[in-house]
Amino acid sequence: MAALLEMKGIRKEFPGVVALDGVDFSVVPGEIHALLGENGAGKSTLIKILAGLYTPDRGTVVFRGEQLNGLSPQQVQARGIAFIHQERAYIPYFTVGQTLFLGREPSRGAGLIDWPRLYRKASEELVRILGLEIDPHAPMESLTVSEKQLVDITKALITNPSLIVFDEPTGPLSEGEIERLFAVIKRLKSQGVTVVYISHRLDEVFQICDRATVLKDGKNVTTLEVKDATPDGIVRLMVGKELKEKFPKVVASIGDPILEVSNLCRGHVVRNVSFKLRRGEILGIYGLVGAGRTEMVRLVFGADKKDAGSIMVEGVPVIINSPREAIDQGIALVPEDRRGQGVIVEMSVRDNVTLPSLKGFSRAGFVASRRERAAVQNFVKQLNIKTPGIDHFVKYLSGGNQQKVVLSKWLCGSAKVVIFDQPTIGIDVGAKTEIYRLMGKLVSDGAGVILVSSEIPEVLGLSDRILVMYRGRITAELSREEATPDRLLFYAMGGGVADVQ
Ligand SMILES: Nc1ncnc2c1ncn2[C@@H]1O[C@H](COP(=O)(O)OP(=O)(O)OP(=O)(O)O)[C@@H](O)[C@H]1O
Ligand SMILES: [Mg+2]
Repeated sequence: MAALLEMKGIRKEFPGVVALDGVDFSVVPGEIHALLGENGAGKSTLIKILAGLYTPDRGTVVFRGEQLNGLSPQQVQARGIAFIHQERAYIPYFTVGQTLFLGREPSRGAGLIDWPRLYRKASEELVRILGLEIDPHAPMESLTVSEKQLVDITKALITNPSLIVFDEPTGPLSEGEIERLFAVIKRLKSQGVTVVYISHRLDEVFQICDRATVLKDGKNVTTLEVKDATPDGIVRLMVGKELKEKFPKVVASIGDPILEVSNLCRGHVVRNVSFKLRRGEILGIYGLVGAGRTEMVRLVFGADKKDAGSIMVEGVPVIINSPREAIDQGIALVPEDRRGQGVIVEMSVRDNVTLPSLKGFSRAGFVASRRERAAVQNFVKQLNIKTPGIDHFVKYLSGGNQQKVVLSKWLCGSAKVVIFDQPTIGIDVGAKTEIYRLMGKLVSDGAGVILVSSEIPEVLGLSDRILVMYRGRITAELSREEATPDRLLFYAMGGGVADVQ
């Protein structure tokens, strides 16, 4: 079949990095084509070249027989290609309606925007495309991470494109939202729309994709039919080696409670949460997106104000009203919205990693630079952070590599309690395992770890004990032996809860 999109011999070099080195990418009409590869393999760069955001050093882009090289992003969009980029950019104080129709506002003549019509259409499109009941007057910054993502998808689909590129769309979405998105993608496919789909979740690839192109270090590895492939086979192609032990579980000796949380409350989102975390323990917190897990750990970390509740660290009552106070008590939080809250993109990899633990590195007031550099180098190596050097600015790293920097920052620190909120979203398979290993090291060194995750295999594979949350409450506590996927889902969906309002 003639290709709809044909990218040939694409090369793109950034200072110190060859992101793409002669990549070919060909998509036929009506297929869902996965683009796969480790963090930094070059996926997003290829997409940004297609979008007209980057100019390739070499190579051609042909869409429906027309050469796209040199077109602006607006001109590319006008050809019927829409993008959901990995890094979502939006203006925080813009309303949902403004965001959806930015640059395409309905007019009532004389250059004036027809606001009532814009908001009416916004409401209609939100419902029509993804069945979203979001107020179009709400400012973007008031939405949750997943709502923002769904607005971004709606925005791309409003234009009725013939080719849609999703760069890691499901990271912030709940199971239900992912299902809804997949139903939409399948419907689009049946209408003849073509899709390019980037994801680190192979189950998604097997669920919806027809073919897959694998990149490694900016080069083509192969293009294959998904139905002829296996997950392990694809991992081998991506990583270049066999991955054993997906969840290296370290059984540390479990000691005294290191963190005790009692009756934590915030409005309707967190209701009377109490639990203990012990030294050497990985405590999993499972729940569906929206169950209040992120909100709950933010209260422990002092990032939001609690209505009530008390916290003890090593048996001593402490007052935590700000992240600073939490850090001073030895509590660290690796946030879910890592790009927003986790890294300072205008700083180097090294500065980002050592920032919270500078105390540990300074000797008599000045930083012991060699030791610090060695520690950072070590993380770069262990997590396979793709960067030309540790003095490189974080903003130049690929999405997944930025996340690895945030994680190193806390894995490197000396916190007693480390809370990870969805730590492996957007992280490639090889690095996931390394992150699990580092969590194991934290607990064997005597820290306690809280692992908030929506990935059942991850929670089951790593936790010593699991709490399940539903609508702001803890609805079950399961030991490692008791926990099964069915049980987790049962409680996460409100099973066994008599009265919940
Ligand atoms: N604007 C930029 N300036 C400098 N280097 C860049 C820039 N954009 C990407 N790179 C580098 O190019 C390489 C490929 O990055 P790219 O973002 O395409 O990876 P990716 O496959 O999308 O990874 P991920 O799965 O982490 O999103 C990386 O080494 C990255 O650091
Ligand atoms: Mg990317």
